[in-house]
This record gives sequence, structure tokens and C-alpha cells, in this order.
Amino acid sequence: MRRSTLSSPRARLPLSLRPIRAAMLASAMAVTLFHAAGAMAQAAPAAAAQASQQKGYVPDVGQDGKDVIWVPTPQSLVDKMLDMAKVTPKDRLMDLGSGDGRTVITAAQRGLTAQGIEYNPDLVELSRQNAKRAGVADRATFVAADLFTTDLSQADVITMFLLSTINEKLRPRILSLPAGTRVVSNTFRMGDWEPDASETVTQNCQTYCTALLWIVPAKVEGKWDMGGQTLQLEQRYQMLSGKLGSTPISDARMDGAAIAFTADGVRYAGLVNGRSMSGTASGKGDWSAKRN
Ligand SMILES: C[S@@+](CC[C@H](N)C(=O)[O-])C[C@H]1O[C@@H](n2cnc3c(N)ncnc32)[C@H](O)[C@@H]1O
Repeated sequence: MRRSTLSSPRARLPLSLRPIRAAMLASAMAVTLFHAAGAMAQAAPAAAAQASQQKGYVPDVGQDGKDVIWVPTPQSLVDKMLDMAKVTPKDRLMDLGSGDGRTVITAAQRGLTAQGIEYNPDLVELSRQNAKRAGVADRATFVAADLFTTDLSQADVITMFLLSTINEKLRPRILSLPAGTRVVSNTFRMGDWEPDASETVTQNCQTYCTALLWIVPAKVEGKWDMGGQTLQLEQRYQMLSGKLGSTPISDARMDGAAIAFTADGVRYAGLVNGRSMSGTASGKGDWSAKRN
């Protein structure tokens, strides 16, 4: 079967990934029942099964994939991930390693234009059939490709259920995306970039029930002229530190293109737009700054 030629045999997995694979596989076993009973719960359950049968391809939970095995995200967590990203029909979503297409199809059912990137062509074909059955094939598309060589620049929202090691490899590319791009991961973190939010689903979810959200921050590190005073900013991902004049700033962070910090008891909130930023300061009215 074509699947076996694409899959990484377990023996060839790097040592560092084997425990994770084993953990994912163990959990996969636990969710097999869930999967069999309701894998496509919201994305046309009968249609999904029928499509698989028609194609003669039924994926196995825990089967090998190029860089990570296939384990489906529980539908309740798919819903939570999209909620956390605050998706709207204007958003373009990309699921990296899209499996049977459930996240992409659910996004399309919410009116988004969504694309799945999946290495395994059998899963791609199954996803296309599932999207067709769900009536969203026009908005839910799938590409047989390697996520490491895929252009991410058109995505407003990226979803993924990969591994921490893979997320970390993707991190520089994610950080170079436009400010405000949202990234949601099932369970796995992104190294020392702390998530902006984390939520765990407790209903209808046995394993892999935590979603982590990151919002790509605007890059603001450096010196800014703020009405004759120097605003000096140091930036670590979304967290900021620095000084306004000689006063240290506190409680300072980015939320996409939105900046907020406190100096001398005054709360500054604003928006960054390239080399300028502007907003309001509590009790002081408007403020603006330009990059030096
Ligand atoms: C854990 S599953 C997640 C599936 C789906 N995103 C979900 O949440 O239900 C990971 C998927 O990534 C795919 N995959 C592994 N390495 C890949 C790569 N380099 N490029 C694209 N897809 C890959 C696997 O085939 C598998 O379907």
C-alpha cells in the first residue's frame, strides 16, 4: 500500500521522538473507540465513513506519518481551537498536517477559507471526499505537501497537532508572519515562547484535550521617539521590558499589533503600524511614537 512507502518505519524514528511517538500511540489506542464512534462527528459522520469505504482507505489511529503519526484531534478540541483563535469568515486558515481534514472542514463550516497541508496522499484524498460530503469542498481544500516547505504567508490562522520539536522548528517562520497571525496547537508547545492562552476541554475529550494559542507579535524592539521622550523597548516574543525616559515600564506586552505598558502609574495602550505607534494613555489622552 502506498501508505507504507510514505510512512517512517518506527525503527527509523529519531531516538528523541520515540518516547513521544510511544506516548502519542498509547493515547491513540485510548481514543480508538472515540475515533471509531465519532471521528467526523461534526463534519458529516456517515459521509466520512462512506467516503473512506468508497476509496477503500481507512486510516489507523497511530499510523506512521512523515514526521509525526496520525492521531485525530477530538472534535470538541477542534471546536475549542477555532474558538480560541476567534476565527471569522474573513480568515484564511491553514492546518499543518491535516490528517482526515476535520479541522479544515470544521473551519469551512464556520465560513472560513481553509486549507489542509498533509504529506500522506491517501489522507488528502480522504479529506477531499469528507469535505465534499460535508458540502464545503469549495472552501476546504487540501494539498499533498510537506509542511516544512509550505508557504505559510497567506494564513491568518494556523492550526497544528504536531510535536514540540516540530513546533520549535517552525517557530522562526511563524514569528516572521504578519503581526496578529494566530497559531493554535493541540497540546504541544513551542519551546520558550509561552502561549498567550491555554484552555483544556473537559467534556467529550479523553486525550489531547488542551489547546495553546499564540498571537504573532509586532516587532517593536529598539528606540522610539515619544513626544520628545525616548521609549526604549526590549522584546522577548510578546513580552516587553524597557524604559520611558528614565522610568522603567511594567506590565508591558504585545497582543499582535496591540501594545500596552505602564510607566509612572500611567497605562499606555496603542497599536503599532510599521515605524509608528499611537494610542491613548490613562488620564493623559492620546500619545504617539516614531521609531528612531
Ligand atoms: C497528529 S496528526 C494531526 C491530524 C490533524 N491535524 C488533526 O488534528 O486531527 C499529524 C498529521 O501530520 C501529518 N504529517 C506528518 N509529517 C508531515 C509533514 N512533514 N508534512 C505534512 N504532513 C505531515 C501526518 O500524516 C498526520 O496526518
